[in-house]
Amino acid sequence: MDGLETIYIEDWENQISQDIQNKAVTALEAGKVVYFPTLAFPIRSKEQLLFSPEKVDPKSKNISYDLRNDRLSGTSSVGEEAELLKEMIRRYATTCRKFVDKLIPIYTRGLVQARTSFRPVEIAGRKSPSYRKDDTLLHIDAFPSSPTNGHRILRFFTNIHPDGKPRVWNVGEPFENVARKFAPSVAGPFLGSSWLLQLLKITKGYRSLYDHYMLQIHNTMKGDAEYQKNVSRTEVRFPPGSSWMVYTDQVSHAALSGQHVLEQTYHLPAGFLQNEQTSPLKVLEKVLNKTLV
Ligand code: SIN
Ligand code: FE
Repeated sequence: MDGLETIYIEDWENQISQDIQNKAVTALEAGKVVYFPTLAFPIRSKEQLLFSPEKVDPKSKNISYDLRNDRLSGTSSVGEEAELLKEMIRRYATTCRKFVDKLIPIYTRGLVQARTSFRPVEIAGRKSPSYRKDDTLLHIDAFPSSPTNGHRILRFFTNIHPDGKPRVWNVGEPFENVARKFAPSVAGPFLGSSWLLQLLKITKGYRSLYDHYMLQIHNTMKGDAEYQKNVSRTEVRFPPGSSWMVYTDQVSHAALSGQHVLEQTYHLPAGFLQNEQTSPLKVLEKVLNKTLV
């Protein structure tokens, strides 16, 4: 498939050839999903009991872990079970990090560790509090409380479903098409609103014009039923035992069904990219003909 770069690697720890390194970074930055069909994350037998949606706190979508402070959140588990969850997710976080450092060494110095998550809830049929939170609709990632100021959102996923269930995604049109379709009609923010949002701690940090546009594009895409119905997309099925990596701020995606994945988020300042011109920031600035951060 066009939007997918397939790389066969079985081992998280082996050295990775220059050739594969180049292939991966070029594909990622061009807005492809880098797919590792044979990169499975080993689960220990005592961890099998964690594979249940009931381990998620009803107020949360996923169970989260932050390697920076070793904190687990979003779970109803306590005591030994919470420790077991933490250990599994932490192992994924550290394994992923070492792998990404080997796969794309040019990112290593810039890559900012963010949340790791375990997603044991079936996506299909899951109720969302609002359409804006419904990830079964095609969207690019942008979050109301977490402005990036142009830093990239890079995500790594592994399907660990024990019974063969794939994670099914739709991948939509290239970012430039999305930007040309939605950005020109986005209204600018109210004067002073970014300062106010920060002051009231509604946003963690300052919501730049870039973040304003990205969030509005995210919301308008999801809310546009006509667009959701008609835009071209490709269905991708990620089976258990596979992993994939993608710039979710750039690649239009929808998660349709599946259960039990591990996910790692990183942020990357744009200066570490091999080619900044393909970044959502540069593309949006070109489309709108103005500076956004
Ligand atoms: C998303 O980023 O929209 C969700 C991806 C997933 O959980 O598969
Ligand atoms: Fe998303």
